[in-house]
Amino acid sequence: SNGPRQTKQPPQIKICLVGDMAVGKTSLAHVFLQQPFKEHYQATVGGVVMARTLENPVVTCQVWDTAGMERYRALLPHYMRHARCAVIIYDCSNRETFDSVKNYWLDFVESCGEEGLVKILVGNKMDVAEKVRAVNIQEGELLAQSRDMPYIETSAKFGLNVDDLFILADKRVSWHQ
Ligand code: GTP
Ligand code: MG
Repeated sequence: SNGPRQTKQPPQIKICLVGDMAVGKTSLAHVFLQQPFKEHYQATVGGVVMARTLENPVVTCQVWDTAGMERYRALLPHYMRHARCAVIIYDCSNRETFDSVKNYWLDFVESCGEEGLVKILVGNKMDVAEKVRAVNIQEGELLAQSRDMPYIETSAKFGLNVDDLFILADKRVSWHQ
């Protein structure tokens, strides 16, 4: 026989995705979960939890995809409970979504996040044409630096930096343990 069966579960980290409507939270979560990217926008209602286990190091990322719609804001502190990482997302082609990171999301996450919460700033839709881009990389980097968090640009549409985002989240959480 091969001895006792391995029953040990991999460690889990809870990662909460926040940001304005339509910035691409659900798209990033789906692509990370190896589901196809959808062009069709369907607003998230409430929140949805998904998980994927990374291999090296072995860790289960429990991804909480929240609703950007204002009507569901009251639920967010509940979704943030016990989160180890908040991923704050804006859309590189939409200036308003970047402004609301500065005016709303950073303070929100700091007010309801638990001690040692890791924050990551994400500029999604990096694939958009240069003339459509409304926030440049330097602005994203500067804002992230000013709040002592890493910055990464992603494209859910083309799968750019999506795994890297969650690997970064895992690394940062491990450092903070
Ligand atoms: P809420 O659930 O309402 O908060 O929105 P969300 O943040 O979950 O946005 P969602 O992932 O539903 O994406 C909104 C729209 O942006 C959809 O039409 C997506 O196809 C599109 N989209 C998402 N990510 C990208 C991207 O990386 N590049 C481009 N070009 N479009 C994207
Ligand atoms: Mg969504």
